[in-house]
Amino acid sequence: MGEKSMSSQKDAVKSSRSGALCALAVPATLVAVFMVFAPVRLVAQAPPVAAVPAAPPAPAPAPVPRGDLEITVVAPDGKKFLKFQDCRVIIRDQVVDFGDSSAPRTVSGVPAVPDESVAVTADARVAQGAGKPALRFVGVAEASPEAGKSVKVTVSLKRADDINAFCVTCHPGRGQRVRPGQIKRDTHPSGQVLEGRYRQQVRIYNEKVERLIKEGKPHGEPIAVEERLVKVGAKEVKKEFYTCESCHTLHAKTPNPKYMRAPYLETSDLCTGCHF
Ligand code: HEC
Ligand code: HEC
Ligand code: HEC
Repeated sequence: MGEKSMSSQKDAVKSSRSGALCALAVPATLVAVFMVFAPVRLVAQAPPVAAVPAAPPAPAPAPVPRGDLEITVVAPDGKKFLKFQDCRVIIRDQVVDFGDSSAPRTVSGVPAVPDESVAVTADARVAQGAGKPALRFVGVAEASPEAGKSVKVTVSLKRADDINAFCVTCHPGRGQRVRPGQIKRDTHPSGQVLEGRYRQQVRIYNEKVERLIKEGKPHGEPIAVEERLVKVGAKEVKKEFYTCESCHTLHAKTPNPKYMRAPYLETSDLCTGCHF
């Protein structure tokens, strides 16, 4: 990022920052640079307070129409998968455990909003020989549920040892080609080795999440890191990478926008999960 664009972004941030954001616990520089993510939306979050005349009580909102999805998960070659393990499929706030079965499953009650699609995400492992880590396969299909109907969806799994590379096929970043209909990703670095104090910070954050879960208190999702073998000289060394999945779930709904694992606007829980 050039010096010039950096300072103009900071200016834009200064003029748009709301009171709530000033309360962020991350260093101001982080917040300032980060706000390139969403300056417009932040302005929109603080509309002027207008005097509203007393209105009759609003009618109860119409219930959201819902439909079913009949989901089939297939192997990269299009055939039924015979040997996957722990396959789960995520549809917004529903997680369906396919286990090692390739039979289609029907998921009911998926919101059917006209012109809105939903990402159906499968995450599976395939065992290797003894002592070898399982391979990871992930697939995403876009579905359009229809009210009161059952819609068929096929999710094709792909090798995803590098989840970052997998996600950017649909969410290109800066300088990458965007195909029609694709949602571009944010500007935070991703897919790099996590070193030193960052790792310690993630450990502290994840321990806290674990404790809150045990105590039955509100909590964010753990920050996921990806273990990969990296060649260092002649040796292969295990390293932890932070990826898209460190900050986002696999399209699983959370209380936060954009499938974010923890709050990041009003409080900076997610950011301080790594930044110290
Ligand atoms: C096959 C294409 C595809 C792949 C691969 C894919 N996504 Fe998506 N993603 C979508 C679609 C379609 C939507 C919009 C529908 C929805 O939100 O359910 C979406 C929405 C999102 C959003 C919310 C965007 C918004 O503005 O609300 C985030 C964040 C996201 N994806 C992250 C990821 C991450 C992280 C990965 C990798 C694990 C990933 N996606 C892989 C297709 C994909
Ligand atoms: C360090 C945390 C972090 C990492 C790593 C990260 N993101 Fe994000 N991402 C965010 C935040 C925060 C936002 C929300 C910005 C906002 O509020 O508009 C976001 C927004 C998005 C959006 C929605 C953009 C929009 O305009 O609506 C997509 C899609 C997305 N990220 C995909 C990805 C993908 C793909 C990767 C990996 C290549 C990735 N992200 C890595 C933090 C992260
Ligand atoms: C999973 C760990 C992780 C999380 C969570 C995280 N960051 Fe980062 N962030 C990093 C790492 C590591 C770097 C350093 C990247 C480098 O220098 O190569 C970084 C760099 C940055 C930078 C400098 C950007 C650049 O282009 O060099 C900013 C700004 C930033 N983070 C803001 C945030 C904000 C705001 C959040 C919360 C929404 C956040 N980060 C969440 C790990 C994380």
